[in-house]
Amino acid sequence: MSNLTENNCKTETALPLTGYMEEFTGMDPARFCTPGHKGNAVSGGLSGAPDSLFGYDIADDVASIPRKIRESESYAAQIYNTLRTFYLVNGSTAGILAMFLSVIKPGEKVVIGRNCHRSALSGLVLSGAVPAYALCDISSEGFQLNTTPQAVEKALDQNSDAKAVFITSPSYWGICADMEEIGRICRDRGVFLLADEAWGAHFPFGKNFPKSAIICGADLVVQSAHKTLPCLTGTSLLHICSSKTDPVMVEESLALVQTTSPNLLYYLSLEQGINRMKTDGGAALKTAGDTVVRFREIVKKGKTSCSLLQGCCPSDIYEIAQKRGFGTDPLKLSLFMDPVETGISGSELAGWFTDSFGIIPEMSDFNTIIFLLTGWEKKHHIDNLEKALKNLSDENYNSGIKHRGKKYSSVKIHPEDSCCLPPTTAVSPRAAHFFPKKQIDLEESEGEICGVPVVPYPPGIPVLMPGEIINAGTINILKKTASAGVNIRGIERNRNGWMITVLDD
Ligand SMILES: Cc1ncc(COP(=O)(O)O)c(C=O)c1O
Repeated sequence: MSNLTENNCKTETALPLTGYMEEFTGMDPARFCTPGHKGNAVSGGLSGAPDSLFGYDIADDVASIPRKIRESESYAAQIYNTLRTFYLVNGSTAGILAMFLSVIKPGEKVVIGRNCHRSALSGLVLSGAVPAYALCDISSEGFQLNTTPQAVEKALDQNSDAKAVFITSPSYWGICADMEEIGRICRDRGVFLLADEAWGAHFPFGKNFPKSAIICGADLVVQSAHKTLPCLTGTSLLHICSSKTDPVMVEESLALVQTTSPNLLYYLSLEQGINRMKTDGGAALKTAGDTVVRFREIVKKGKTSCSLLQGCCPSDIYEIAQKRGFGTDPLKLSLFMDPVETGISGSELAGWFTDSFGIIPEMSDFNTIIFLLTGWEKKHHIDNLEKALKNLSDENYNSGIKHRGKKYSSVKIHPEDSCCLPPTTAVSPRAAHFFPKKQIDLEESEGEICGVPVVPYPPGIPVLMPGEIINAGTINILKKTASAGVNIRGIERNRNGWMITVLDD
């Protein structure tokens, strides 16, 4: 065998990369190229993992592979109905960085929904963009919902020179912003709409799911395939949805933030996962959606009989969100605890799910547990969760749950709390990043400029971004929530109390 070019690989399949790679590896090419394992599981491999896992892992610039990747991306673009789709191997994080770098120049303004992920902050630091925040709607129960069109409009009125709007929808909890209306606002004002749809890659495949930003007028949309599609961790998609976006700038920006040695297994996983969604995704999402409805009913019914659940889900965030005009992802099953009433925190209860039923939730924290369903779960795992929820609803059974009766103080955040008010920015996140920093006592930080993002979970809204001025109300909320055991990234406890990182001027 001497020629490994595409002429010798004739198989035509709907899956350009998969078809080519099957034939290519079948020809047993003599590998004098990367990667170092040469297609063999010489390092021992993983028990149960086939040698072919290594066989398919080969440098992406060999033979006709680059062209097949491009064809595969075009196939994905057809399915998602976009102008162009890029496969990402470094998560949505890479896509978000590339969105900033391709659209916003240093010093230009971007309106950002305040519930943005940390990667948006990295986008601000790398691009040098200056943020103006559109605040999130927070319900009277203290639930973070999402950004509203009114908040976006207000931020654009106050920052008429803004170049782009960046919205995170759905939120981690599955609450969606009104992307159609926000799209209309952005179109009318001629600003770019950048959508972080990391949690919504499945939306286009479901019936009666919230609309994807792809069809709501967004110019660029990023989606984490690995979060809700049957794809490997690290795989994501960046979609160009408007002719206003320069594909060369996007491609060059991606080249700045991604590896030059992408793993082909990731690309194969994207191609096959998206294809599977095309053929069977609708049915899988329907099954998962029906299961979530059934499970929510179990929890609701349990509230009448079970004292633990009476303090749990005091009101259903999804009903509240829908009443206030937000769309919701039908696949998120969340339990909201009030540890003051239940005497047990979300993390403690999550431990019960894991220890007693072998269940790993998507996330748990002080007052929340999220279970993520996608439709690709094993049947007996769905049965496990059903059994656990039924047991939770059974007063006799759950009285055995450990740690009940602890004393917790309330950490509910209300719309009028200072951490929900517009922040005062002293310097841009980029300037703050390059500034020397020091750690000081949180108690003594009033008036200082914050050096790193400070983000409590819940509610997941950054209380402080680098470059923002720390005020007394914020210190108060941070102390209260940290002392209640809420996990706050950006502050640390030492012998003297809570410490925060500030700019050292
Ligand atoms: C809203 C949001 N955007 C972006 C990201 C980054 O995604 P990835 O992990 O695919 O890089 C996350 C990760 O959890 C996220 O929650």
